[in-house]
Amino acid sequence: MAYKVLITEDFERMSQAASGILVPAMRAATVEQQLAFNLGLATGNSPTRLYQLMAENQKEFNGGKVRSWNLDEYIGLPGKTASERVVHPESYAYFMIQHLFGKLSPGFGSTYLPAGTEIDQGRLEDALQEANQFVTFEGTDKGKAVIISPNCKDPYLSWIRDQLVAGYAASIESAGGIDWWVVGSGGKGHIGFHESGIPLKYLMLLVKLDDNTVDNAVRDGHFATKEVSPWYALSMGAQGVAAYARNVLLLANGDRKTEPIARSLFGPITSDVPISILQQYISEKDRQVVYVLDQKAAAEVIGKEKKLAEKGIELIDLRK
Ligand code: GLP
Repeated sequence: MAYKVLITEDFERMSQAASGILVPAMRAATVEQQLAFNLGLATGNSPTRLYQLMAENQKEFNGGKVRSWNLDEYIGLPGKTASERVVHPESYAYFMIQHLFGKLSPGFGSTYLPAGTEIDQGRLEDALQEANQFVTFEGTDKGKAVIISPNCKDPYLSWIRDQLVAGYAASIESAGGIDWWVVGSGGKGHIGFHESGIPLKYLMLLVKLDDNTVDNAVRDGHFATKEVSPWYALSMGAQGVAAYARNVLLLANGDRKTEPIARSLFGPITSDVPISILQQYISEKDRQVVYVLDQKAAAEVIGKEKKLAEKGIELIDLRK
């Protein structure tokens, strides 16, 4: 089946199972077939141990043949200049160096992240205010897609719209798409920073973050208060992941993920739960989605083989 859910005992086994899928795929492409491998990456706690395992097993694949694209990056990190923001310990660029890129030798052939740190949040907010007749905020929740009209001539906003938003999606498209994209799930089932309630049609987004996302960032200790947290981001849209990724590896662990995981599997495809867009893969033969869950995130899925099979989803319980 093109859509599988694997249940594991805990974070360690979830990460081992994910590594057991990804590393052989990277090996098959880069060593056995001598091909490039396009890897999609995410940040957050969910993939940290997977990245450690990839680094530990790096002899298995040829990193020089791997090109990676990250899902998202903050706008509004503390720092006056782009170089100060990119090395801020909470930037996703820094996260990737710390958790994966810095542990690889040789490193990946190329690594791309959305250029959120290039944007000055204050200047962005001023420009959005001034050009407000060309800007719409889309979304049913507090997290919004900031859509800059093609008619907007403001140079700062045009640069963001054309180079940083459209340009990032175009770079993936011209590289031929993503072989495997590692993703996590946000508290409301969002993907990257494609927040719950934002229409599913966008490949790439400028986003005004949802309160829930900012709350979680503070609660998880990433920022001291909501005021100093970034309030914007550049992110792949759920549609961008679904359009460009041939395979998706979704990791989720812990109680906070139980509900969004269940809704993404049993509910309809809806912008309320952006990861539900991955249900599009159910009917596809050449592309697949694999959820790798710990038993807490899987709490509402355990034992539901029949219900999932009716949707075309295979449930595999790997616990002893
Ligand atoms: C943020 C990131 C998402 C990530 C989510 C969950 O919202 N932008 O890409 O999936 O957090 O993070 P964690 O894995 O720490 O639960």
